[in-house]
Amino acid sequence: MTQSVGFVPTMGYLHEGHCMLIRASKQENDITIVSIFVNPLQFGPTEDLVNYPRDIERDKNRLEAEGVELLFLPKDDDIYPNKISGMVTTVAVDEAFSSRACGTFRQGHFEGVATIVLKLFNIVEPNRAYFGLKDYQQFVLIQRMIHDLNLKVTLHGLPTHREPDGLAMSSRNTYLTEQDRVLAPMINKTLHEILPLLREGGSIADGRGIFESRLTDLSSRFRVQYLECYDRDFNPVTTIIEGERVLVTAVYLGDVRLIDNSLF
Ligand code: PAJ
Repeated sequence: MTQSVGFVPTMGYLHEGHCMLIRASKQENDITIVSIFVNPLQFGPTEDLVNYPRDIERDKNRLEAEGVELLFLPKDDDIYPNKISGMVTTVAVDEAFSSRACGTFRQGHFEGVATIVLKLFNIVEPNRAYFGLKDYQQFVLIQRMIHDLNLKVTLHGLPTHREPDGLAMSSRNTYLTEQDRVLAPMINKTLHEILPLLREGGSIADGRGIFESRLTDLSSRFRVQYLECYDRDFNPVTTIIEGERVLVTAVYLGDVRLIDNSLF
């Protein structure tokens, strides 16, 4: 009998959110493979590729403690032997999709994500793959890629894992100053505060205005990049009242860009 393989792709600097995906995979599969690869193709020229937090030794200990059978830890040259500039084929992402939410501000990001995830799927050949709903647009992208390109992997999406004060766990939280770390949970709290307004028929523009003014009234260190609302397949919506929605946001706190969302 062939053994089932569960796969958790990551960029490392592992936290409880990653571990939750690993535990789900371990529960449902004979073997769990975790990859750690900080993928240069999904970072823009002005983004934090060089400074992205890395601590492989700590990650290895964590994976051992979680009982992960296999770590895939490729080098840039293993994944891009001809360098990125020498690639002839990559995964294209529909312009309409990549011009929404994060895509608007991160040119080429989702092409980079789709390409690396397809490459990793082809190398690892998992039966099941585990992704977090914290990166909701990324999750929908992978769901669509699996469907559009007939990939033979079953996708599992797990809810956002949070700190006790509500801050969504992220490798990037480590960049926050002590004072900003105290402010950061207000992003999720404020997101939830405007949900009733949207459900009662308030416009997204109004919601964004209130979201922005509540955060910037608290501290001038907040800068809202976007607050947008989509249906669960990440299509634009005209009404909020009917159907299931996702409210997504990216907020700068100082120099640190944090994303969060709420499914409602
Ligand atoms: P990374 O940011 O390391 O995240 C790896 C996986 O962990 C993603 O599926 C992400 O959604 C999930 N994750 C992160 N924080 C989470 C949280 N607080 N709760 C639940 N899940 C969480 O996302 C990437 O890496 C990369 O884009 C990758 C898919 C590996 C491609 O390079």
